[in-house]
Amino acid sequence: MNSPSFSLLALLIPWILTLALLPACLSASQNLSTIERDTTLISLSKNNTKVSQGREAYNAFCLPCHGPENIEIDSPSNLFDEKWYQHSGPSGIEKSIREGVIEKGMPAWGEMIPEEQIEALIAYLLSFQTTFHKSNE
Ligand code: HEC
Repeated sequence: MNSPSFSLLALLIPWILTLALLPACLSASQNLSTIERDTTLISLSKNNTKVSQGREAYNAFCLPCHGPENIEIDSPSNLFDEKWYQHSGPSGIEKSIREGVIEKGMPAWGEMIPEEQIEALIAYLLSFQTTFHKSNE
């Protein structure tokens, strides 16, 4: 059993295993970082200072298109109900805000306003999401 092809196989097996398992490992760590990010964002939404900074930023930048807090229509523009048409979950909402929905006319805010305001905006919007708060209590 000391043929050259056997030792070649012995060399290749660890590589094959690594390549086969790599995608699974990467996606597991990505899920973990999404969960961590969600937890951070939910805790920001319980910080009153952040939330009121977010309300100010919302009134300045978002209100013209998305409407007031008491908007009661069932539409993708309503950011105060529990229904999400783009990405959902705290980090999904973050993604929509940062990257925009360019083809529909929603700007990518991540490139336009300071990081602190982005986080405050997410905190503000999440403060209306009762399901996140319940599941986190
Ligand atoms: C020029 C108009 C406009 C402005 C200003 C604007 N948006 Fe949007 N926004 C849109 C449009 C259009 C969509 C896509 C709606 C759809 O899915 O059809 C959208 C979608 C979103 C979504 C995803 C909604 C969902 O249901 O998944 C979020 C979150 C969002 N906007 C946040 C914001 C925030 C925060 C601001 C202020 C910083 C803002 N938007 C400012 C037009 C705008």
